[in-house]
Formats: sequence, structure tokens, C-alpha cells
Amino acid sequence: MKRETVVVLDFGGQYNQLIARRVRECGVYCEIHSYKTDFEKIKALNPKGIIFTGGPNSCYEPGAPTYTPEIFRIGVPILGICYGSQLMMHLLGGKIGRAPVREYGKIEVTVDRNSRLFTDVSEKTICWMSHNDYVEEMAPGFTAIAHSDNCPYAAMENKELNLYATQFHPEVLHTQEGQKMLSNFVYHVCGCAGDWRMDSFVEQSIASIREKVGDGKVLCALSGGVDSSVAAVLLSKAVGEQLTCVFVDHGLLRKNEGDEVEAVFGPDGPYKLNFIRVNAQERFYSRLAGVTEPERKRKIIGEEFIRVFEEEAKKIGAVDFLVQGTIYPDVVESGVGGESTVIKSHHNVGGLPDYVDFKEIIEPLRDLFKDEVRKAGLELGIPDYLVYRQPFPGPGLGIRIIGDVTAEKVKMVQDADAIWREEIANAGLDKTISQYFAALTNMRSVGVMGDERTYDYAIALSAVTTTDFMTAESAQIPWDVLEKTTSRIVNEVKHINRVFYDCTGKPPATIEFE
Ligand code: XMP
Repeated sequence: MKRETVVVLDFGGQYNQLIARRVRECGVYCEIHSYKTDFEKIKALNPKGIIFTGGPNSCYEPGAPTYTPEIFRIGVPILGICYGSQLMMHLLGGKIGRAPVREYGKIEVTVDRNSRLFTDVSEKTICWMSHNDYVEEMAPGFTAIAHSDNCPYAAMENKELNLYATQFHPEVLHTQEGQKMLSNFVYHVCGCAGDWRMDSFVEQSIASIREKVGDGKVLCALSGGVDSSVAAVLLSKAVGEQLTCVFVDHGLLRKNEGDEVEAVFGPDGPYKLNFIRVNAQERFYSRLAGVTEPERKRKIIGEEFIRVFEEEAKKIGAVDFLVQGTIYPDVVESGVGGESTVIKSHHNVGGLPDYVDFKEIIEPLRDLFKDEVRKAGLELGIPDYLVYRQPFPGPGLGIRIIGDVTAEKVKMVQDADAIWREEIANAGLDKTISQYFAALTNMRSVGVMGDERTYDYAIALSAVTTTDFMTAESAQIPWDVLEKTTSRIVNEVKHINRVFYDCTGKPPATIEFE
């Protein structure tokens, strides 16, 4: 599959994935590669342009990330951002030093609008700076095309070699015209046509999967989550009944979720694939009986999942391909964090099954970011509620029940969670909250219902806002929503007599309540 590609060379900056996202928003496919990637490999990608990212180091420090200067003769435009711009100057004979005034935050920059990088950008524009070092002297052949009060070389160009450098970060939203600058680079400097679209992704993937699979057999572990659902539909459009999906219902899914997955992927659904639902609830409950330690529960659920999947796979016999729902953030090599390409352990599988007899793995989504996976899902006609599903941990409700897991407790948490989700949606809050669910605390306490004393469980409600799930804040839920949810839960769910709302953020808590 031939497509225009821009390569982001990763020097360990925190916004590197964002650069790739912004380039893709311009309709140009973009890949991130570590600065440790061999030059020949980068050349073989035949990029239309290259972007050097920022990074935390000083380029004159011993051992700081660097790259062969040969790259500047590769014959395609290069844009260096922050550390990337300093490195470019450093390698080409300029001088980098500690800036007398450290710039951090939104800074007004004056740009030269005659540069192709700044076509249609305002002469004075707000840019995001975050640097200790700066360019003291430009490398020969460069001219300054932007400056700020404290930074004489806020952007530079070498027209002859098609090299561009910005001290600021065009990829972050705080740089008000940053997207315009990146689009100028991609279109006017690199000459891209910009024909990367989700519909062409879907079409091209289907064609290339068909070619690869031929008349082979394909096996997919379907969890009902976004990634595995999109992967399964893509495969089914490509190879139809050559695909078998195994859906293990471990009895720890949200209320009605197993049936919803079956309705979409099963024999009455719109897709022509072989669908096997394994109702393994009892197996999981019996393995979990009496186990209270959360890590132990996770381990048991992960292992049991693999066993069940393997047993089904054995019945099917040898297959040619195993589908994994790996997505791009799982495989990006980090510039500083080492080179290993991580293969995502399927979020339910927790590792590759050992005994499944297959020749090759297919990872149809490994080039996509999460929201691109969602777009592909919509493109493929997958229902909205599946495409926009909240994150849900592989071990499911098993880790949203504090203490031991029983069928009765699973039912309590499922019912309470369904009410909470319904009330959040009724209040129109579902689009603004990143993740929300109910968990069963292991606490029982005395209450009174009617005229009777009760000694029942407490449910904890959680709702968080976050962009990256690494940190999160507890969402501010209007009191009437909490009140109504509480009243419904204690009335409708047996053995619950108290409801708490979790106000803790992450850190110090985690998002899951386990
Ligand atoms: P924590 O609880 O670590 O969770 O703050 C961060 C995000 O990851 C999700 N999560 C998981 N997702 N398998 C998954 O696919 C898991 O085992 C798992 N554990 C936590 C969690 O729901 C939150 O979105």
C-alpha cells in the first residue's frame, strides 16, 4: 500500500504523539520512530517530510539523543521543533546555549510571513514555548523567520536544504496558529496531497487483509471493547466466514453487555462471521471464590480467560491468523524509554495464548490512534454505543467488587452501575465525563427500610474527567443527579442500603476501585 508518509523522529518529548495526530489531521499519514532508528530504515519509508520532536535534554550534553547528519541530505524537508530545532542547528554548525531568560508558556512571536512555514499566519501570533536552551548562533545557510522578546531565533529556515526549525511547539493548542503552521509545512513545504482519510484506510485495509489472508482461516478474541470490535468487523468485511470470533463471557461484564455483544456479532447481527459465545460465568466465579486480593483476582481472571480461549481454539483446530486489537499508542517506540516494541496484551487475554495453533498475527489497527479507531468503527457501520464505549478493564467487574466475588455481588454492582449510567445519560453528562461506574464496597452497615432493620452493602459511585487516564479528577456531579441515583439504587437494588460518591482524584487513588 503506497501512501504519503511524514516521519516524526522522536527525541523523547512529551508532545510527540500530538505531532503525529496534528499531521494526520492534515490528511497525511504519519508515523513516529525513535531517534535510535537506523537511517536506512527511515530512508526506506520514503517519507515526504520529517519532523524532529522536542525532548528533555540539552543537545551539547554527552549522551544526549542525536542523529546522523546524513539525514539533512536525504532530499526531503525537515522541521525541527524545540530540542529538534536545537539539534538541527547543533549538527549543522550553529551554537546552542542556556537561554538568559527561560521561556515557558504563551509568548508573542513575530513571524516573517514570506516564509512558506508562515503563509497566512498573523504577523504577531501567540506560541507555546517551553525551553531552557536556545539557539545562540544559527548554522550557516539559515535565516531567522521569527523572534520573540527573549528569543532572537524563534524560527529559522534554510531554503536551499528545505530545513525549518521552531523553538516553540506548533503542535500544542496553546500555539494559536500551530495547526496552520504544520499544515503549511506538510502541504507547501513537503508538497503532500493530503489524501489520508478513514474511508481510504478502511478500503485499503480490507484490500490488503484479503490479499494477505487468501483463503486462510482467521481467529479473533472478541471482548466487546472498541478495539477488538472494530478489528473484528474489519476482518469480517474482508474475509467473511473465514473469520471466527470467540467471545468469552466471564460473567463480569456490565449489565446486558454479553447479550449486546451477541446481538451485534452473533447470527442475528449484521455481520457474516462465525461467532462463538462461551458462557463461562460459573468457571470464573468458582475460581474466584474466596479470593479477596485484587492482584490475585486479576491474575486468576486473566489466566482463566486464556484457558477458556485456548479450549475453544483447540476445537476449531489450526488457524492461519490470530487477530489482535493492538492500536498505535501501544506500539510507538519511545525516544528515550528504550526500543522495545510493545505488543499489547489483549485487554482480556493478558498475553498471547500459548497453545493456539496459528502462523501469523494480524493487527489491522496498529497504525491508528484511539479516536481514529472510533472513526474507522463508524465508517464500518458499527453502532455508536459500541464505538463510544467507555474504557472497561479486562478483568471487568471482578475488580469493581472489593473483597470476594460472588454471583450475587456481581448482580448488585451490575444493577447499580446500570442505574448510574442511565442517570448520567439522562442528565446529559455522559459526553463530558471520561469514565463513570459503580463499585461494590465490601462494607456492610445497619440501615432501616420500611420498619425493618437492614444490614446491607454500600455502593460507591465514581465519575472522573481525564484526558490521558494517567491522572484524573473526580467530576462535579450536580446534587440532584446524585440524589436521584442514590434513591433509585437503594430502592431498586436488593441488599444495598447506602451510596457513596468518590471525590478522590488520581493520584492518590486510581480510576478503578479495586
Ligand atoms: P487505573 O485504575 O490504573 O486505570 O487508574 C486507568 C485506566 O485503565 C483502565 N484499566 C484497564 N484497562 N485492562 C484494561 O484494558 C485492565 O486490566 C485495566 N485496568 C484498568 C481503567 O478503566 C482506566 O480507564
